[in-house]
Amino acid sequence: MRRRFPLAATAAAAFLAVVVVLPLASAATSSGSGKAKAKAPVAPPAPPNITALMSKGGCKAFASLVEKSPDALSAFQSAVEGGVTAFCPTDDAVRSFMPSYKNLTADGKASLLLFHAVPVYYTLGGLKSSNGPMNTLATDGSARNYNFTVQNVGDQVSIRTEASDAAARVRSTVYDKDPVAIYAVDAVLEPVELFEPVEAPAPAPAPVADAPRASSKSKGARHPPRHVADAPGPAADDAAPADQKKNAKKNAAAGGPCPRWLAAIPAAVAAALV
Ligand SMILES: *[C@@H]1O[C@H](CO)[C@@H](O)[C@H](O)[C@H]1NC(C)=O
Ligand SMILES: *[C@@H]1O[C@H](CO)[C@@H](O)[C@H](O)[C@H]1NC(C)=O
Ligand SMILES: *[C@@H]1O[C@H](CO)[C@@H](O)[C@H](O)[C@H]1NC(C)=O
Repeated sequence: MRRRFPLAATAAAAFLAVVVVLPLASAATSSGSGKAKAKAPVAPPAPPNITALMSKGGCKAFASLVEKSPDALSAFQSAVEGGVTAFCPTDDAVRSFMPSYKNLTADGKASLLLFHAVPVYYTLGGLKSSNGPMNTLATDGSARNYNFTVQNVGDQVSIRTEASDAAARVRSTVYDKDPVAIYAVDAVLEPVELFEPVEAPAPAPAPVADAPRASSKSKGARHPPRHVADAPGPAADDAAPADQKKNAKKNAAAGGPCPRWLAAIPAAVAAALV
């Protein structure tokens, strides 16, 4: 009983093979060798239009800059096929950056635009586990570094360059379909190759921080007593490295006998008034 269906199916399949498939196959082979078969699979889909995707995803201004730079446009287009992750600044970010952008040469503009993409496809999850320096589409060997640093803090993916003290933050996923990902960022990325690096944080603020102390000292102590600076004594001076020694002296000057000396001023003034 059970064998009836399989038998019937087998018979049907055999019938189909003889009546339908065989004639088709022979028609194909007789009509035109391999060419007919090669046409059968659907043509691969056209690569995505990266600037169109950026425009749609809130980066219209950036996409339009890419379209106006022939070098950048062709590099973006060829990168799309090999895998690419682009970081497009939002329209607001581009608007405030335009004065600086207009100052760049055509070559500088192309480099800046290409600085906003890396030749590797990253999902957002992939980016979140990729702290560190990355080469960009603007990188060309060691002569043109054009790298930036991906920095994750918690769930926030950020991109840092030495030319800017604020990191650009990834705001949203504009497009993500292997091999192309596009993320919107809230600032234009500035390569140090085109923009002055921000001063290293340590040396820059130091004089500023010192200034008020120095001025208050000079105001309060117009005739700083010589003995104050020597107060810490030889032991402290010998133990500490030069910088700390300097600070120790400064601290001693600010916090040592100075207040006593300052406290004497009102008394002296009072005495003078009497
Ligand atoms: C991509 O889309 C833009 C419109 O956003 C269009 O002007 C351009 O011709 C398109 N490029 C290609 C290669 O299709
Ligand atoms: C553009 O370049 C000019 C001349 O080099 C300079 O004075 C100006 O500050 C620059 N503007 C910006 C926004 O970089
Ligand atoms: C990144 O670029 C800087 C110069 O802009 C260079 O000193 C540094 O070695 C580069 N880092 C990597 C990992 O390529």
